[in-house]
Amino acid sequence: MIKIDNVSKYYGDFNVLKECSTTVEKGEVIVVCGPSGSGKSTLIKCVNGLEPFQAGEITVNGISVGDPKTNLSKLRAHVGMVFQNFELFPHMSITQNLAIAQVKVLGRKQEEAVEKGLKLLDRVGLKAHAHKFPGQLSGGQQQRVAIARALAMDPICMLFDEPTSALDPEMVNEVLDVMTELAQEGMTMMCVTHEMGFARRVANRVIFMDHGRIVEDDEKEAFFANPRSERAQQFLAKILHH
Ligand SMILES: Nc1ncnc2c1ncn2[C@@H]1O[C@H](COP(=O)(O)OP(=O)(O)OP(=O)(O)O)[C@@H](O)[C@H]1O
Ligand SMILES: [Mg+2]
Repeated sequence: MIKIDNVSKYYGDFNVLKECSTTVEKGEVIVVCGPSGSGKSTLIKCVNGLEPFQAGEITVNGISVGDPKTNLSKLRAHVGMVFQNFELFPHMSITQNLAIAQVKVLGRKQEEAVEKGLKLLDRVGLKAHAHKFPGQLSGGQQQRVAIARALAMDPICMLFDEPTSALDPEMVNEVLDVMTELAQEGMTMMCVTHEMGFARRVANRVIFMDHGRIVEDDEKEAFFANPRSERAQQFLAKILHH
């Protein structure tokens, strides 16, 4: 579903991604972790063309992201992306937030979009909040709305960039539960997260990045039992002790 082949990226002189390669099969869940600044967000943004890259190739469902002929908005419409800070429209109700991209990007009728949005809102356990505005919901609830909004676009895969790291600890699980359900239903997912419990439960593979390189790309059992690089060992020791 996602193929990243020898991708390098620069910000000016700064080499932010260095010859990164990996593949994500349909239905696979990949957790991406690594120290701050190692390039995790950049890599995931390259996958749906939010950031350009200078070398290598990325294909999503066979479509080349870097090819200038590719219609990136069309591709992005079907690659769900969930960020740390939800990015809901503050001046729109939850229902409007769920419907707008379906109408504007996919050309669905308003009624159809609302119906689909509400169905997904129910699925993330928030049906009763449809009429509210984002500011009236907790962080965990807003993030579940953001996931429902992404799902309303019928994504072929989902990208998550630290979806729980801005949340109070007691709200983390409600979001991870929704992500776990999605994974169990067979969604292809690439998740930047340091939630190692989630990684252990749900991931097929774990990617560890350091200084712009993918230094580990392992089956999760192998990753947790015995990460090969010293950097990953140190990193794991640190986050598992907190
Ligand atoms: N627009 C930009 N221009 C220049 N440098 C950037 C830009 N965006 C990110 N960087 C740099 O690229 C590196 C990788 O950033 P990135 O956000 O991908 O890291 P990350 O692994 O997601 O970190 P974190 O865990 O803190 O989110 C960092 O050193 C960052 O300072
Ligand atoms: Mg990041």
